[in-house]
Amino acid sequence: MSDTISLPMRFGSNSGQSVTRRDGIAKVTGAATYAADNHPDGMLYAVFVPAAIARGRVTHFDTGAALAHPGVVEVFTPQNPPPVAGNPDEKPFMFAVPVEVLQSDRIRYARQPIALVLGETIEAATEGARLLNPRYEAETPRIGMDAEPATKAPSGPFGQPAEVIYGDVDAGMAASQQSVDLTYETPQQYHNAMEPHAIVAKWDGDRLEIDTPNQAIVLSRGFYAYYFDIPPENITIRSPYLGGGFGSKAVPYSPLVLAIAAARKVGRPVKLALRRDQMFGPVAHRGATRQQLRIGIDAQAKMTALDHISTATVDTFDSSFPEPACNASHGLYAAAALRSTMMTVRNDIGVPGAMRAPGEASGSAALECAMDEMAEKAGLDPLEFRLRNYAEREPGTDKPYSSKALRECYAEGAKRFGWAGRPMRPGQMTDENGMLVGWGMGTALFGAPMFAAEARATLRPDGTGLVETAASDMGQGAWTALAQIAADSLGLPLDKVEFRSGTSDLPDAGIAGGSGHTATAGGALHAAGKDAIARLAELAAADPDSPLYGTGNSGVTARDGRLFATGDESRSEAYEDIIARAGGSAVEGKGNASRPPEDAERHAMYAHGAVFAEVKIDPDLFQMRVTRMVGAFAAGRIINPKLAESQLMGGMIWGTSFALHEEARFDKRSGRIMNADFAGYHIPVNADVKGLEVITVHEDDPYVNPLGIKGVGEIGVTGSVGAIGNAIWHATGKRIRRFPIRIQDLL
Ligand code: MOS
Repeated sequence: MSDTISLPMRFGSNSGQSVTRRDGIAKVTGAATYAADNHPDGMLYAVFVPAAIARGRVTHFDTGAALAHPGVVEVFTPQNPPPVAGNPDEKPFMFAVPVEVLQSDRIRYARQPIALVLGETIEAATEGARLLNPRYEAETPRIGMDAEPATKAPSGPFGQPAEVIYGDVDAGMAASQQSVDLTYETPQQYHNAMEPHAIVAKWDGDRLEIDTPNQAIVLSRGFYAYYFDIPPENITIRSPYLGGGFGSKAVPYSPLVLAIAAARKVGRPVKLALRRDQMFGPVAHRGATRQQLRIGIDAQAKMTALDHISTATVDTFDSSFPEPACNASHGLYAAAALRSTMMTVRNDIGVPGAMRAPGEASGSAALECAMDEMAEKAGLDPLEFRLRNYAEREPGTDKPYSSKALRECYAEGAKRFGWAGRPMRPGQMTDENGMLVGWGMGTALFGAPMFAAEARATLRPDGTGLVETAASDMGQGAWTALAQIAADSLGLPLDKVEFRSGTSDLPDAGIAGGSGHTATAGGALHAAGKDAIARLAELAAADPDSPLYGTGNSGVTARDGRLFATGDESRSEAYEDIIARAGGSAVEGKGNASRPPEDAERHAMYAHGAVFAEVKIDPDLFQMRVTRMVGAFAAGRIINPKLAESQLMGGMIWGTSFALHEEARFDKRSGRIMNADFAGYHIPVNADVKGLEVITVHEDDPYVNPLGIKGVGEIGVTGSVGAIGNAIWHATGKRIRRFPIRIQDLL
């Protein structure tokens, strides 16, 4: 009967508003309960021993000394690992990773967990772990881009082909009037969310309750079910608050699995929280890349060929996550021919994984700098060069874009930044303090994926709404933006809608990743709300006492807690009145969202942007400051401008981090990261991120999904790195092709 009810596709007053984050006050006042804040009765503290070598075997532990400590309850080593079902050396699902759960004495990377100590206190467990005093048989670790010969990756990390080819790149290069052939390097970056990984695991027979920050709550149940041979329904994962995720909290990593196994073995709840230094190994990172880019252009500066070979460091035992840097070259510029190739070099490191804009971040850093170098050679303004190679349809596939307001991003960003006044040659500008000034730009690009999600929406007898889906709010504001979508779908003001989320007992909201969470979970909530309203409308339309009696075919509109007859607004009724006369039971709707494959066949879907950066460099000390950045982004419908701008700004700050700060530095003899703390692993502070400005460019996208939403979580990183690198050249005349760019590179 719902086909007789027409609900106009339109948005209420909640979407589009800059609502402040609903979890914000709880988070900043300490009222929010993070995973590690949980203390179930009888809980033990777990501390793992990180391997001090990167390759070899652990040969001995002073287990007796650790057990002799009065506060130590249990010690697990490869001699007596807590049981785990399934094969920890295999990955049970595409997004999972092999785990180290003491199944062997082999060490495959530094800081791999090689023993676990349980104590009555955190101090006892820490001291017990120290007393274990492991001894090793070390082998020479393979570290760095030249550790082994590069080999072609079997595929990309998400199953994408390792090689993408259209047109004839060699012919295109041969026919070019001018060309560049450049190699860039990007370092390993390690996940360092404010909240390190943590877990509190509690067993009750074959039921498992877990408190852990998680970006894919329902999916992760399946991983844990595999490792512990219980049905996923027996597992509850609670993840109400996360202190950042960025891709590392989407799948379970070794320390978390180990803590659950230990809890089962000793029959007591166990808490394990990673120390900051323990983040540098077992919980994924962005692989290093070496990227060769060849670009050829014709006499009109149109690209005849783009050849992008990216070699990425991977671990030795899984090797399935090469940082997919080549992604950045697909779908953006109208090159007549393209070839991209993913290569890998095996290193004795933990598994790489998804880290904010995996692929596009590293790839666009190289591509956007190469575009700048090509523009310089062609004697063209870098923006003009990009406009000459603007793709009207997706290169290679020839699909139309579902929407693409990149031209507007270029124009609005350039205008706000003042790009028109930029001298072509480098080293032309100084400020009043004698600082060298440079301006650079880069194009931003990220896909607009959708995953699969389900949601439930209930209209309660008092006229308020309840919406439920297992979404993750990592700090991006999902609880707020998703609640805005849900409130609109129910025709209610935001404060009349209760939003339940953050536990795996709710309908699956899919993964909070890939910049697809708002579109996916929001789509499901929207569908659920519409379904609830349709059911409510059926009740009213069938009730002779309702002013809406018989509205079936003309339809209703839901607004402010009332249904209105379409075209005759004098006929309306409040939700609670409809429900009361129908017997007083809540009205429940269900919805789901995913992208039909035929939609993806018809259109290429991306968010786009343009980033402009100003740097100032001390001519004597070569200290670099990013003094201004303008990012203009087109990402479909913006549900909450304040939150979207914060996400985009966060991405641009990450871009600054990538360009100037972040790098894991290895001691090649030991294979250990030397700067595994915030004293040595640099990220931007406030003084490093002055003058950020974000513009969101209007974009209506009727194809990307019913709500017209693309994502904003990752695109801000892309484009920003290149913009800064290019600005540094513009200030100094020096092309630094290795990130992060350091003072010594400019001397
Ligand atoms: Mo993101 S790297 O998809 O959390």
